Amino acid sequence: MDKTFYITTPIYYVNGVPHVGSATTTLLCDALARFHRLRGERVFFLTGTDEHAQKVADAAAKEGMDTQAFADRVSQRFRDCWDYLNVSNDDFIRTSEPRHKAVVAEVFRRLQAQGDIYAGKYEGWYSVADETFFRDAEVENGRAKESGAVVEWVSEEVYYFRLSAYADHLREYIGSHPVFLQPDTRRNEVLAFIGGGLRDIAISRRNTGWGIPVPGDESQVLYVWFDACINYLTATGWPHNAAWNQVWPADVHLVGKEIYVRFHALLWPAMLLGLGLALPKTVLGHGWWLIGGEKGSKSKGNIPTPQEVVDDLVARSGATAEVAKDALRYYLLRDISFTSDAEFSVENLVEKRYNPELCNKMGNLLNRTLKMLAQYAEGVIPEGSAARTSDGALASFSREVTQDVERAMLALDPGGALASIIRFVEAVNGDIDRAAPWKLNKVGDTQGVADALYSALEATRLIGVLLTPLLPHVSGLIRAQLGLGNAPLADWAHETPWGGLPGGLHTEEAQPIFPRIDTKKNTPPPADPPKKEPKPKMAETTPPPPPILGEPEKSSAPASSTITIDDFAKVQLKIGEIKTADRIEGATKLLKLTVDIGEETPRQILAGIAESYAPEDLPGRKIVVVANLAPRKMRGLESQGMLMAATDAEGHAVLLHPADPDAVPPGAQVR
Ligand code: MSP
Repeated sequence: MDKTFYITTPIYYVNGVPHVGSATTTLLCDALARFHRLRGERVFFLTGTDEHAQKVADAAAKEGMDTQAFADRVSQRFRDCWDYLNVSNDDFIRTSEPRHKAVVAEVFRRLQAQGDIYAGKYEGWYSVADETFFRDAEVENGRAKESGAVVEWVSEEVYYFRLSAYADHLREYIGSHPVFLQPDTRRNEVLAFIGGGLRDIAISRRNTGWGIPVPGDESQVLYVWFDACINYLTATGWPHNAAWNQVWPADVHLVGKEIYVRFHALLWPAMLLGLGLALPKTVLGHGWWLIGGEKGSKSKGNIPTPQEVVDDLVARSGATAEVAKDALRYYLLRDISFTSDAEFSVENLVEKRYNPELCNKMGNLLNRTLKMLAQYAEGVIPEGSAARTSDGALASFSREVTQDVERAMLALDPGGALASIIRFVEAVNGDIDRAAPWKLNKVGDTQGVADALYSALEATRLIGVLLTPLLPHVSGLIRAQLGLGNAPLADWAHETPWGGLPGGLHTEEAQPIFPRIDTKKNTPPPADPPKKEPKPKMAETTPPPPPILGEPEKSSAPASSTITIDDFAKVQLKIGEIKTADRIEGATKLLKLTVDIGEETPRQILAGIAESYAPEDLPGRKIVVVANLAPRKMRGLESQGMLMAATDAEGHAVLLHPADPDAVPPGAQVR
């Protein structure tokens, strides 16, 4: 029997309620799970809650509640939220369930019996917010450098897992399995982390009444991360349910970047190697949603819940709640980034995605074709249209788009799939404009009208099919309005070939799916946090960073004045590869980079991109550098060049990259 496609979300801590960040990971998994089901595969899609964290006990205590009762309540909030968002998970696991506790104990015993777990003393730092142990070098001024979370000094007898013993095996495995750690930038971070030396990791803490007791030593509870990752195995039925190995290994563990390197790329794979079990095929990490430049999180209270955003969209557009849920899906899937962070805002959702793409392009396509059909053909799909079997341009474009969507979904990129679908929507709208059925109708060209409308309607049907795993409700509405009924689509392969729309079908009356939001009339959405006062641009106390990344440098020439090619030739642009990126103490906007531009030593470049990029996301990226700019000093440091970047609507820098980074080495000339 074919292996089940197994995909997992992180299990979410129950110290806070679900928000659009946790919803993003869950909805990405949902889209991928739905896609594999449509391809006829068996799918196991797992999500759940992680309950044994110290911060959960702390949150319960704060509310004066029993910890388990508190965990029950918040865990239910996650179930309810995923139900509300129509998430199609096959199981929902809680780490406080007996099935999980039994498997955790089994894993502990097996690893202990073979000498991978031993008792010792831990002295070092622990962050409850991150539920992570940190070394001295990872801590500064009482906070973890990585996250800024407060750390406390811990000195206690614990059990250790022999992580160090797996360093070589992990390095070798990562090198020989290119799809294991994705995207590539995160694989590099993991290799760098291993390069820094893998130490054994404490896997227990003093038992203060919350957690899974260490088997044979009730004075200790297991460290929450040792317990948590095992959920992925528990849910398969390992070790006693014989069916577990049709499900294991997981095809995809999808997680946010903060829990990628230490836990999903190192600790968990090392535990699996210790157990002699196969490693997950792919661990995929995505970036964060930022709110006003900071990570969105419930503890900061700066990130909305899905329902808040949906209610807001409904109030402003008049769309149904189910359509608004799909609009939120569209934005989250399309704009979350796997390689960097992205700014979340309802304004972006409305102005970049809802109005221009969903309303003006997708909704309008369905609406205008159905209206024309009603006007010129009594709402009945034309019979005997040549467009049904033709291999015309739109039909062949539809095959290309179907392949693009399949490729993107297999490459775990729902956002890429949506981008391809929108390109197709644009092409169909363009095709209608060119064919101009209204003109053909005027001159009595009935066959021409029939062909043009069949073509547009068949393309719209296919758009509905392609959207099925991505916008499940809207895809159903498209099929229903085309007269295809509202039975859920079951089979991708059967539905994707061109020509599937039967002639003679009576369509429904056109109903706008995405009513336009009037952004002028509406006040800014309540789901967005209040806007911070606009800060003076590049308000460092030092001179502003180079022009492209900050305020345009004053010039006496008018903005539109031209330069000659010789003027332009004076600017030496080169491809650079970022080697290191660090924050500069006290500077909120500047990062200090070293960039290889093909010279003997890398250049030190200061760039005003700290609000747009996290330093850990930059090493390895190829960029464009102005190489012959006179060096200048900022904050006492010399900057020996300038990066090229564009500015987005929010005023954030967006770095320029070569389209094919592998084709151009550092130092390559840019002309
Ligand atoms: N319990 C651990 C995971 C254990 S998995 C074996 C945990 N839980 S969490 O509740 O903190 O959830 C973290 C996950 O929520 C992130 O990895 C990411 O998937 C999602 N997100 C939380 N905040 C987010 C953003 N601001 N942006 C995008 N995703 C976010 O860590």
